Amino acid sequence: QRFVKSLSFALCLGAAAATSSLAQAKTFRVAVGDGAGGTQHELGLKFSEAFKEKTGGRHDTQLFLNGQLGDEQATVNDAAMGLLDFSILAINNVTPFSPSVGVLTLPYMVQSLDDAVALTQGEVGQQLVDNTIRDAGVRIVGWAYSGFRVLTNSKQPVQSLSDLKALKVRVPNNEIMIDTYRAWGINPTPMAWSETFTGLQLGVVDGQDNPYITVYAMKFDEVQKYITNIRYLFSIEPLIMSEAVFQSQPDEVQQAILAAGKAATEHSARWLVEQEDKIKAELTSRGMVISEPANNEQEWMDNAISKVWPKYYDKLGGKDHLNKILQSLGRDAI
Ligand code: MLT
Repeated sequence: QRFVKSLSFALCLGAAAATSSLAQAKTFRVAVGDGAGGTQHELGLKFSEAFKEKTGGRHDTQLFLNGQLGDEQATVNDAAMGLLDFSILAINNVTPFSPSVGVLTLPYMVQSLDDAVALTQGEVGQQLVDNTIRDAGVRIVGWAYSGFRVLTNSKQPVQSLSDLKALKVRVPNNEIMIDTYRAWGINPTPMAWSETFTGLQLGVVDGQDNPYITVYAMKFDEVQKYITNIRYLFSIEPLIMSEAVFQSQPDEVQQAILAAGKAATEHSARWLVEQEDKIKAELTSRGMVISEPANNEQEWMDNAISKVWPKYYDKLGGKDHLNKILQSLGRDAI
């Protein structure tokens, strides 16, 4: 793994620091990929409040919104090397570093907030946390739930896959999502999150997908008009921490981090339910036009599941493993 060397170096530094300066009061830096008013921001605020409270005001955090500390994927590297304490980012931007979390970006795997909560807070979630420490050198300490990623574009209403063919669509650098668009018949354009607003504004791409709340927090309504209400990917956004920095903390601070992460996670699920419809209405009042995918999304679903899932069986632990996950969600095996 590309992180192993830097990680062991960072862990050594961390162990040395655990008994010295890092035990002192500290303001932890938290990178946040999105702008103010989104689920990432809300998770960060709640985490910070709970962490401060649980350490009796001794420790604090500072949130840096809008990718000020670098693009989401770059923050994973920085945290792995111990150069950054925390980052809040979309799970699809963790997958390139920790392949097993790809299970959360398989099209149509997560079909509701309940599925998202069950997967992240149950046995599967714990495995993903452990795998991500091992593979990426970062620890997931909390989860934000952001709702389904809907397709937005500046050109025309899109309902069918043949409508989609008219668009150049930005996707994150995530192979499962790239393959999903290929299964839908187009070649998408991988682009860093931090470049997406400008890419849309300049017409380098016509569209992208992200949850309603993210579209709002990123002010995409200024550069996008049409929304297609697809439900292929329920966006889950972890709060990750540098494992080196985590290991360098005394036990009581580690416990405070984990407890604050749990409180923030629980808050995030409630907040999504309270906010999503209001934000959707706000986007339409700003002139965005929402279409439903044709035929109950059937052709979108059939193409994505039949063409993408088989390609990832091996990478994601095998077909039986995926079937067990589906059954744990009360769904039929494939
Ligand atoms: C992406 O599209 O790269 C991310 O999902 C954006 C986000 O973090 O909100």
